Amino acid sequence: MVELRNDLASDWQQATCYLNGEWTALADAKVSVLDRGFIFGDGVYEVIAVDTVDGIRAPFRAHAHFARLQRSLDAVRIDNPLAVEQWLDLTAEVIERNPWPRQLVYVQVTRGVAKRDHPFPAGVAPTVFVSTSPWPSIPSEQIEQGVAAVTHADERWLHCDIKSTSLLGNVLMKQYAVDNGASETVMLRDGFLTEGSSTNVSVIKDGVISTPPKSVQLLPGITVDGIAHIAQQHGVKVDVRPVAASELKTADEIWLCSSGRELLAIVSLDGAAVGAAASAGKPGPMYRRMHQWFQQAKREDARDWISQRGARSIETRASERVA
Ligand code: PDD
Repeated sequence: MVELRNDLASDWQQATCYLNGEWTALADAKVSVLDRGFIFGDGVYEVIAVDTVDGIRAPFRAHAHFARLQRSLDAVRIDNPLAVEQWLDLTAEVIERNPWPRQLVYVQVTRGVAKRDHPFPAGVAPTVFVSTSPWPSIPSEQIEQGVAAVTHADERWLHCDIKSTSLLGNVLMKQYAVDNGASETVMLRDGFLTEGSSTNVSVIKDGVISTPPKSVQLLPGITVDGIAHIAQQHGVKVDVRPVAASELKTADEIWLCSSGRELLAIVSLDGAAVGAAASAGKPGPMYRRMHQWFQQAKREDARDWISQRGARSIETRASERVA
């Protein structure tokens, strides 16, 4: 096993990754310029958070990520090149081959390499890329003080439920946040909340969490689903329903969440403080509770992963592949 190293937030280029059946240094991993991921954004992906629990590194909700990968592949009609168990093995292996206690595992499947032509090419194998990078701790000031967001019309296509590598719309929206000194852009379509540029967004009013229903307008987030589940376990009501843009102005709290950012409170929206008098402009009491529950749920999820797969070393898996 590689030695765990904590101090490598800038050392992502040293990662070992998997590309089409081979393990290689990230710097040496190369795909053809004719890869349809490069030419058309013709691919799908997943991002999976990994943290160290009881001294062992575990990915969170890995099964849910690979179920969503299957859903995305089906939606764009790419045959899944691997079975779920093989994806889980690859995830375990990329974690083991890299030194960081906290990682963000990145999985990408594209339609493969072919002469540039719009229709799907026949007989082309998908490109499979699995890499990882160090995942710095979520800054404590973001947890304690919250983050700023701005709103913008959602101008993306109507397949936002597919986790596609065609992310130009999202990239432009994230840059809009950066250009406006904010941490996220909250998108609105036809007077309703959709999601953030790379996060799901929920509003909290009178102790109820409201979150937009799954539709073609937004990504079915693993984290937001996890939060709904945790809330229900603790007797907090979750209302999955269309959320009007106007509700953002009257919400007690607004949250964003994703695999990489976990759960953060949006405390300022378009420059106005979020929430009512006492906690206006600060993370609210519901956020503080949910943040704790979320950390607890992560630990439980990691223990499940460890009990199911912890004993399967790289060598065990390799011998199974040969057999
Ligand atoms: N983004 N909505 C969008 C548009 C996203 O890109 C993401 C995640 C989410 C949250 O999904 P999840 O909880 O499953 O991470 C919602 C990832 C982290 C990314 O593209 O880097």
